[in-house]
Amino acid sequence: MKMLEVGVCGTDREIISFEYGTPPDGYDYLILGHESFAEVVEVGSQVTKVKPGDLVVMTVRRPCGHPDCMACREGRQDFCFTGDFTERGIKQQHGYMTEFVIEEERYLNAVPPGLRDVGVLTEPLTIAEKSLEQLWLIQQRLPWACPVEPGKPPEHCHRAVVLGAGPVGLLGAMALRIAGFDVTVYSRSRTHEENNSIVSAIGARYIAAETHSVDELAKSVGNIDVVYEAVGASGVAFDVIQHLGPNGVFIFTGVPGRKGPMQVDTDYIMKDVVLKNQVILGSVNAPPHSFQAAIRDLGIIIQKWPDAIRSLITARFPIDQALKPLSNDAGGIKNVVVIS
Ligand code: BGC
Ligand code: ZN
Repeated sequence: MKMLEVGVCGTDREIISFEYGTPPDGYDYLILGHESFAEVVEVGSQVTKVKPGDLVVMTVRRPCGHPDCMACREGRQDFCFTGDFTERGIKQQHGYMTEFVIEEERYLNAVPPGLRDVGVLTEPLTIAEKSLEQLWLIQQRLPWACPVEPGKPPEHCHRAVVLGAGPVGLLGAMALRIAGFDVTVYSRSRTHEENNSIVSAIGARYIAAETHSVDELAKSVGNIDVVYEAVGASGVAFDVIQHLGPNGVFIFTGVPGRKGPMQVDTDYIMKDVVLKNQVILGSVNAPPHSFQAAIRDLGIIIQKWPDAIRSLITARFPIDQALKPLSNDAGGIKNVVVIS
């Protein structure tokens, strides 16, 4: 593959500040980059899924070697039991910020040419896709399908709150909208106006954390069925958990830096989790079918909200300026390194 673009995220910034990440065995450096977007230039004789000229996004995680890891042996290394999985650009495997990469066919996902300018957003969208799939699986525990009136278009009845208006939050909000949820995004952000207009373009509501308390958020949303946490800060998350509705699911996707202990009313949370049948779910990484789902949803998104999805990409940097988007004050929503 010839690499076209690589997205930059918080994980990359943690890696370059040496808080996270591990180079491959025998190396004293790690090539960064896990949000890939590439063009196939050459294939082996037995490859059938892609051909030269095709656009592709690669998955991130590779299986551990333990014969008894049921997850990895079934290609579900996103659920690896042993922790010995590797991740391209993150853990013991070089990443994608380089001109050419070689990868096995099974880790490639073809992207239609119409997604050329947003394909790099596939990987961050997979986080929402995996979460949504888990959500549907979990909610099969109860009658959760919204009522359908004969002769009328399906009316959705579930309300979701998205915490955070970074790329993961905004892409999550888009995926939840496509799945029919009523969506409210609650965020403290530097780029309010920009995010606000993206949120309203997709038919969701924006509530600013600077001016509205979590109590006010809960009052204005009403019954909260799902929380999609994409902020990586536990304080606000545990405040919002206390407003999760009956049979609600709270999905954590962020990895917070440790800022020390804080006070949480654990009795209150535990009582509600039990008396309201709630689920608190963590979700990391994504399997190939979530990449397929993300590519499918990007196709829907580019039709429905072309300006909103394109404006998620704040800036593109040539590879010799890759350190700019990696710096902590890079700003914007999603910054991308252009390789060719
Ligand atoms: C990536 C995931 C990865 C996780 C933990 C995230 O930034 O999107 O693929 O599993 O970091 O390393
Ligand atoms: Zn494993």
